[in-house]
Amino acid sequence: MNNVFVIDNPLVKVDVTNLRNKATSEELFRNSVKRISYALAMEISRYFEVKEVEVDTPLEKTKGFELTHSIVLVPILRAGLGMMDAFLEIMPKARVGHIGLQRDEETLQPVDYYYKTPKQLDKAKVILLDPMLATGGSSSAAISYLKKSGAKDIYFACLIAAPEGTKKVTQDHPDIKLFTAVFDRELNDKGYIVPGLGDAGDRTFGTL
Ligand code: PRP
Ligand code: URA
Repeated sequence: MNNVFVIDNPLVKVDVTNLRNKATSEELFRNSVKRISYALAMEISRYFEVKEVEVDTPLEKTKGFELTHSIVLVPILRAGLGMMDAFLEIMPKARVGHIGLQRDEETLQPVDYYYKTPKQLDKAKVILLDPMLATGGSSSAAISYLKKSGAKDIYFACLIAAPEGTKKVTQDHPDIKLFTAVFDRELNDKGYIVPGLGDAGDRTFGTL
């Protein structure tokens, strides 16, 4: 599939196993999310652009590089927050927007409750963060909001993607790039990804 990328890395596979394991503590769950997020951040940063600058080493002048654009990270509340610190460590100058979306447990439709993003999204690489791509309702709606606010160059980082959500997001938004740590089999009749990891927000924040 064009514009869909899976992180192929043994350490990421080990951490995905930690996420899946129902016996994993909240501490290990959060640390595993963080380590996978570092890998996603590095992968997405391949698409960043730099220009040449001159730098003085202690010995002589030489060629260096600096980014030519800004970066905006946008976690979808709540579970996307678990990915944010790792992205901020890799991209320390990024600004941060927040999108509050909660899936209605009956209809599985996303209900929005908060939206605040930095200005000049049109000039930034905008990276949406949400660990779970299930039906795709939440992330597709979030991407539409970002586009309405001017975002033009959008990347979506998730941990587990279901086929249903991947299809929806790539059909609704063929222009964005989607990165995931793993693809799972399907959704169950409650809209949960299987085999999955359960409820990402609850497992991140201990609200099970
Ligand atoms: C989860 C998850 C995604 C959404 C995915 O959030 O973090 O945002 O569900 O499902 P979808 O692809 O079918 O829209 P949830 O609504 O449970 O909120 P929470 O993060 O506050 O727990
Ligand atoms: N949201 C989650 O947290 N987990 C799923 O499996 C689906 C949606």
